[in-house]
This record gives sequence, structure tokens and C-alpha cells, in this order.
Amino acid sequence: STHGSTEKEKTLAIIKPDGLLGNYTNDIKRKVLEYGFSISKEKIVHLDEVTVKRFYAEHSSKSFFSSLINYMTSGPVLVMVLEKDNAIADWRALMGPTDASKAKITHPHSIRAMCGLNTEKNCVHGSDSSKSAQREISFFFGELSTDVITEHDEL
Ligand code: PPS
Repeated sequence: STHGSTEKEKTLAIIKPDGLLGNYTNDIKRKVLEYGFSISKEKIVHLDEVTVKRFYAEHSSKSFFSSLINYMTSGPVLVMVLEKDNAIADWRALMGPTDASKAKITHPHSIRAMCGLNTEKNCVHGSDSSKSAQREISFFFGELSTDVITEHDEL
């Protein structure tokens, strides 16, 4: 285009508590950059229960909901905006399947195979559609996000 930089697709990625506390952040970021993503925003936050419940509202009727909320509030997470062409689908492909124990067999080079354990402790999150990506990016990085999310300043 003659109008400056090309807008790349954006997606929201989260390194979950097991990934962050298990010291997988550098390995994950290395893969992210190797696969052609740029990290345009990032912050470490320790989410509280109310915030995680809002973030995962679409799963509120699922049997695993309370367990997921406990897990996601158990420690700090690293939230990132990733950019590249086809970022949403490509990040989900790089993450691998939800069940990390299966990912180790079927997608051995995926991030969940590298650092996940099961369907709950699966190390990373990625937006599942363009609509989710927009909602999730503004949830964490929009103007109103600072009111509900506590910056974690120990790391
Ligand atoms: S679904 O039902 O298709 O929407 O489920 P899925 O997309 O696979 O998972 C949605 C998110 O819920 C998490 N999940 C779980 N957490 C705890 N326990 C169990 N059993 C479980 N199953 C799924 C899963 O990791 C997804 O989290 P995110 O952060 O969106 O990746």
C-alpha cells in the first residue's frame, strides 16, 4: 500500500500460570518470533476471580468452569498481543490441541506439547476468532482495562 505500514492481523495470547511459573516464557517467545509473529503489547498480571470469570464468561455453564477459574487465578500470567498475517489461526496451530497430554503425541512440536500437562494446565491461550480477538485485546489493553486488572510488579 502507499499508505504506510500494512495492518497485520492481531490475536490475544496468554501464557498461563504453569507456563510462566515453570519458566517457559523464553522458550515460548523464541517460538513466537521464529514463526514470524511480532509481540506488539505485553504485560504480566495476576488476575482476580471476578476478572477471570468475565474473561471466560462463555464457558460459565461448563463443568470445568470453577476449576478453570481457580487455575487462572493461581498465579501471574503474561498477556500478549501477537501480530502477523493470519495471526489468529497460526497462533492456535502453534499452541496445539487443548489437551496437552494428547498434543505430546499428535503435535509434538506445539507449545502445549512442550510445556502443557492436560486440558486445564495447557500453558497457553489464544483467541478463537476475529470477534474474540477484538474482545480479548480490548479486555486486556483497552482504555477501561486498567480499572479491573492489577498489574503484577514482582516479576
Ligand atoms: S470448548 O468446550 O470447546 O469451548 O472447550 P475448549 O475450547 O477446548 O476449551 C475452552 C477453555 O477451557 C479450558 N478447558 C478446561 N479447563 C479446565 N478443565 C477442563 N477439563 C477443561 N477443558 C477445557 C481450555 O483450556 C480452554 O481454555 P483457553 O484459555 O480458552 O485455552
